[in-house]
Amino acid sequence: KDDLVVLGIETSCDDTAAAVVRGNGEILSQVVSSQADLLERYGGVAPKMAEEAHLQVIDQVVQEALDKANLTARDVSAVAVTIGPGLSLCLRVGVQKAHKLASSFNLPIISIHHMEAHALVARLIEQELHFPFMALLISGGHNLLILARELGQYIQLGTTIDDAIGEAYDKTAKWLGLDMRRSGGPALEELAQVGDAESIKFSTPMKQHKDCNFSYAGLKTQVRLAIESRNINAEIPISSASCQDRSCRADIAASFQRVAVLHLEERCERAIEWARKIEPSIKYLVVSGGVASNQYVRTRLDLIVKKKNLKLVCPPSSLCTDNGVMVAWTGIEHFCMGRFDPPPLADEAEDFV
Ligand code: KG4
Ligand code: ZN
Repeated sequence: KDDLVVLGIETSCDDTAAAVVRGNGEILSQVVSSQADLLERYGGVAPKMAEEAHLQVIDQVVQEALDKANLTARDVSAVAVTIGPGLSLCLRVGVQKAHKLASSFNLPIISIHHMEAHALVARLIEQELHFPFMALLISGGHNLLILARELGQYIQLGTTIDDAIGEAYDKTAKWLGLDMRRSGGPALEELAQVGDAESIKFSTPMKQHKDCNFSYAGLKTQVRLAIESRNINAEIPISSASCQDRSCRADIAASFQRVAVLHLEERCERAIEWARKIEPSIKYLVVSGGVASNQYVRTRLDLIVKKKNLKLVCPPSSLCTDNGVMVAWTGIEHFCMGRFDPPPLADEAEDFV
């Protein structure tokens, strides 16, 4: 396993990422190029623009990942690439690059599911994390509670019936006039720290549904109405707002965050009970995906997990948000089980490049 070296490529949304990871979990390099200027200009991800931005940097990002690892493409054992879910225009850029490399250097390709990669990267940082385990995956497009029984064998305990929590963070941040040069989540987390989380009583979603599904569309509407009724103008950036206006925005941010995370807490608590009926031996809850880099989310979920006598595994922030390491590592897991595609045939590869 130590001889294995996998290049991971990730282009499912707005980050162009590549990394080289060794079979023993050693991260040889990690490169992420984010589309900060586009995010600010469009207030979110515009697929066509994102595709062009990926195309502009993909060769450079992959080359940098190889250079930093002191390797050439000839030295790697396989290329792992995210094939979905994500924006298809964007995914294609990564997949084409992987096929180009695979056909030029006769390398196998390992197709990676983006959400599986978010979950499995936790096994790179926590050696004791064996199957079965639970995972809460929270990102811009997904809210998933899963029971991972084996590699490739996952039971979905809950999913969102409308929006994901990251989407709710991003919209709330936009409506509050926060700096969109980075995604809304981190900016909102920062503002929430100076607000009063009890000031506005937003109602917790899906209280009457005794399942493990999520819903954030209703909370988004509650937040939008609160913002409108307080005459907050998102056109005025928070940095230019009056002192009173700023503290009002902070109160909304904190109140939103409290309820958004309370919804996660309630669902996780129930899901742990459900999962134990199927796999009584579970010891860990993994929390991963972009929103898992939020410190308040981590602290609150840690309390739930402790109460339920489990351990929380939350990868460091750089491995929670989209990255190439999680793709390379998931590739290693599959490669070791013999699950990968052989190198593409020359003419087959032509179709992709
Ligand atoms: O996993 P990810 O990088 O991309 C997707 O697969 O969607 O997650 C991105 C999401 C965005 O909605 C972003 O606002 C959110 O993760 N996010 C955060 C934080 N950092 C990133 N949300 C709340 N607090 C954060 N600190
Ligand atoms: Zn993601």
